[in-house]
Amino acid sequence: MKELSLNILDIANNSVKAKAGVIEIDVSESENADIVSIDITDDGCGMDEHMLAKVTDPFVTTRTTRKVGLGIPLLRQQAIDTDGHFKISSQPGKGTKVHADFRLTHLDRPPIGDVASTVVSLIFASPDIRFLYKHKTDKGEFMLDTQEVKEQLGDIPLNEPEVITWLTEYINENLQSIEGGKI
Ligand SMILES: Nc1ncnc2c1ncn2[C@@H]1O[C@H](COP(=O)(O)OP(=O)(O)OP(=O)(O)O)[C@@H](O)[C@H]1O
Ligand SMILES: [Mg+2]
Repeated sequence: MKELSLNILDIANNSVKAKAGVIEIDVSESENADIVSIDITDDGCGMDEHMLAKVTDPFVTTRTTRKVGLGIPLLRQQAIDTDGHFKISSQPGKGTKVHADFRLTHLDRPPIGDVASTVVSLIFASPDIRFLYKHKTDKGEFMLDTQEVKEQLGDIPLNEPEVITWLTEYINENLQSIEGGKI
């Protein structure tokens, strides 16, 4: 994957497919600690131990259109290749947590990419899912909760074009204020 934002999109789409009601996306970038980390947590259908053990193997997937699932194995490989770590935990009926971190200054670390567009496209595609997006840097922290946005919008749907444009700008402005999303 060329950019970490695309990994985020892929892992969060797994959560959407798992029928999650709430998806939390945590991104943390720290130049001081020389680390970038991504945590994606959902309350979807989860996986049993058997599936979980196999899920990092690129030849395991429940997809019927194609035989290999690549999202998880790719993220794991990228994390390991950049002196980072990967962890997945899951419980059937409860949900799934995926953690990946990368050494920020590693030459092979993919750029973070356009996280605002990734988050907004996830929201646009699944307006009924509650997304909690947190982004942390050495300069500060920013959080977006689509539940709060919905309450403020009242009758206006979350995936209205104007709302989407506003959300993208809102995220980018907040990222700028904590100097995030530039790595
Ligand atoms: N959050 C999740 N909740 C429940 N099951 C999951 C979750 N994430 C992954 N899985 C299971 O693990 C399998 C492998 O996931 P992975 O992202 O690697 O491949 P894929 O989604 O099947 O295909 P691709 O990502 O290449 O489109 C999925 O098919 C699904 O059965
Ligand atoms: Mg996938």
